[in-house]
Amino acid sequence: MKIGIIGGSGLDDPNILENPSDIEVDTPYGAPNSTLRQGRIAGKDVVLLARHGRSHTATPTHVNYRANIHALRSVGCAAVISTTAVGSLRAEIGRGDLVILDQFIDFTRRRALTFHDRFEPHNPAHTPMADPFSEPLRKLLIDACRKFGYRHHDKGTVVTIEGPRFSTRAESNMFRAWGADVINMSVATECALAVEAGLPYASVAMSTDYDCWKTDEPPVSWEEIVTIFKENAEKVTSVLIEVVGKM
Ligand code: ADE
Repeated sequence: MKIGIIGGSGLDDPNILENPSDIEVDTPYGAPNSTLRQGRIAGKDVVLLARHGRSHTATPTHVNYRANIHALRSVGCAAVISTTAVGSLRAEIGRGDLVILDQFIDFTRRRALTFHDRFEPHNPAHTPMADPFSEPLRKLLIDACRKFGYRHHDKGTVVTIEGPRFSTRAESNMFRAWGADVINMSVATECALAVEAGLPYASVAMSTDYDCWKTDEPPVSWEEIVTIFKENAEKVTSVLIEVVGKM
């Protein structure tokens, strides 16, 4: 089984592959955001894609989510695991904690959210999305976090915002009231498209900040996110290697 890994901000180190080689692919939706890098992890075929590009030039709005998912499927990936930095909307989700997402709320505004720009005659395609993250993949991610003794949360609802700006305090409080546990700018879009494409998808999220709802500390900044994910990136890498080995 070939496995696609989409690396998020700061969590897209292409050096985790043995025998790496680059593959250029095009899709009906345009080019994916990065050249695909194929190689092996723990004896399995893996294809890596940097969500925002290898130099992080794609904004969350302009990531070509459809091309990224299509490209991974077109080279034979049968499942996708992604990594993402998230802000915590709960006191108990601390900086550096891993969250194995199980639900999303889509608060994005101007993205292509479906592969179905038109329906085939008499064949509307409304994809069930009640439980969008793959349970078997989530279980593998949770088992890996347990094995390494990492602070983690077995479940979490992510709200995905349009960005690139961060939320206002009123928005942050509203997302908390809605039941979201963490916040980011990519996963809902990517997950929904993977499900439409028939690819099992799961995501390991790293909490990097408390957004801005917590009034006893300064609001989130990009510098804070970068510092925390650099300090903790190794955890995500070891979870990925462990999970790929078990797939
Ligand atoms: N990614 C990491 N932290 C975030 C935050 N507070 N808001 C949106 N995306 C994020």
